[in-house]
Amino acid sequence: MQSESKVPPTNSKPHHIILVGLMGAGKTSVGKTLARLMGKSFCDSDQEIERLTGVKIPLIFEIEGESGFRLRETKVLAELLDKEAMVLATGGGAILAQENRERMSSAGIVIYLRAPVSALVKRTRRDPNRPLLQGVDPKEKLTRLFEQRDPLYREIAHIVVDTADQSVRLLASQIQSLLEGPQENGMVLK
Ligand code: S3P
Repeated sequence: MQSESKVPPTNSKPHHIILVGLMGAGKTSVGKTLARLMGKSFCDSDQEIERLTGVKIPLIFEIEGESGFRLRETKVLAELLDKEAMVLATGGGAILAQENRERMSSAGIVIYLRAPVSALVKRTRRDPNRPLLQGVDPKEKLTRLFEQRDPLYREIAHIVVDTADQSVRLLASQIQSLLEGPQENGMVLK
């Protein structure tokens, strides 16, 4: 695992661990395992939107369009970030709104799970729950999203984790070590 880090927030807001990155980067699976390892609660903003609306994300896109979904996403994100500290997996597009980026970067440690497009394509293959990948060439779309969003993820990330083929468990425990004992890993959160 390769990683880079920068200054984490030092304000008095809840200290969340927030996972960002493209679809298929492993935010939900790594987040769940990380939360278990660290004894924290876990939440996934997409699952929270589905719980609140009672419908799946693709139906929200179908009825309200992407813009309607983004409004819901911004509202849910603000509500979740206001709660007790947790591990929070966010939707891949949560970083699009500046308002969300500001909120996330000041509410905790933002970890960008950065995976190569080829891995993202493999992991999202045949998943009907990602409306942005339906009816398009997934490789082309994910390449474009990577180009557009990589700078935005980087803008707010306190830690960038380059993932390759590691298991979820290994990645989560490496991130836990970075968070709990950075000096021992040759990593200092400056
Ligand atoms: C989206 C990513 C999805 C979900 C929605 C839009 C995006 O979440 O929020 O389909 O814009 O990249 P995941 O990153 O968890 O797949």
